[in-house]
Amino acid sequence: MVKIKKINNDSISLASKEMLKGNLIAFPTETVYGLGADATNDKAIAKIFSNKNRPSFNPLIVHVSSSDEAEKISLFNKKVEKITNSFWPGPLTIVLERKKECKISLLVSPGLNTVALRQPNNKIALDLIKNLNSPIAAPSANKFGFLSPTLAKHVKKQFEGHNDISFILDGGKTSIGIESTVIGFDKENNLVIYRHGGITKEEIEDIAGEKIIEFIDDGSIDKSKISPGMIKKHYAPKVPLRINILKPQKNETFIGFGPNYNEPNLSKGGDLDEAAANLFLLLEKYENTGKPISIAPIPNIGIGVAINDRLKRATY
Ligand code: TXA
Ligand code: MG
Repeated sequence: MVKIKKINNDSISLASKEMLKGNLIAFPTETVYGLGADATNDKAIAKIFSNKNRPSFNPLIVHVSSSDEAEKISLFNKKVEKITNSFWPGPLTIVLERKKECKISLLVSPGLNTVALRQPNNKIALDLIKNLNSPIAAPSANKFGFLSPTLAKHVKKQFEGHNDISFILDGGKTSIGIESTVIGFDKENNLVIYRHGGITKEEIEDIAGEKIIEFIDDGSIDKSKISPGMIKKHYAPKVPLRINILKPQKNETFIGFGPNYNEPNLSKGGDLDEAAANLFLLLEKYENTGKPISIAPIPNIGIGVAINDRLKRATY
């Protein structure tokens, strides 16, 4: 049985001891729960892929406790510094060229000369990285193709019976509820967005002082290898899902958005941040009833872009 443990100094230090032994720990971040391993340990990284049933070409995010730590792993420049100074700690992942001499396992991004880095804005996550004294590689703590967990009990449900996972650190409901935004650079050093998430494209453009290019598949590369968050079908609910619905069918659970709809509602007040925080939570709750789900239109602005992105992939 995978246990859920309360947060205190003992559980954090026990968690890092387990990670040093090469075991996995699920932990909260401000976006979703992560399934973490010591990022320098090849065997532990391999366990992440096998426990998630994740294709091994699908690279992992390395979580750091400071930008200094990230600079030891990857090649920073002025543009990167400006962005990390503004958005770290926070829901922004940046893909950079890795330093050849760095100790991070090559398995975190197999076949690539890059590494995805993020400093999470969650005290438990940061304490864990510091206590371990090593960056933590962690994908979202869900099985491949399932919902990203925003509660410790969602992690437990998906990984019951998995002995490689020592335990789950319980940080309550994650505050943002949707995964980080993933950005990187093209060959000409222009900013590219691979995955919409907790920080909007416009917020990054404002700080960087340049437009961000949407990552487009020109057919020359295997998109799934570049950034698997781009895979068209990603999370697929166990029941049929329809989006942008104004009038639900009788047999459906209808999830509203805004003051014109009853409960269940992603946000009665029409607040997109609140909607993001409730998205995976409500989908999890209602897919378990077995009834098809339909969802009201969500404005495609701000974090609404990330919400609609996840919903589209879920219906693909
Ligand atoms: O909010 C989050 O990002 C959560 C928490 C736990 O930090 N993590 C998460 O990890 O969502 P995961 O593995 O589910 O998604 C990682 C994303 C994928 O879309 C992957 O393609 C992209 O990051 N990625 C990782 N390394 C990359 C690399 N070297 N180049 C391009 N994309 C990369
Ligand atoms: Mg994921």
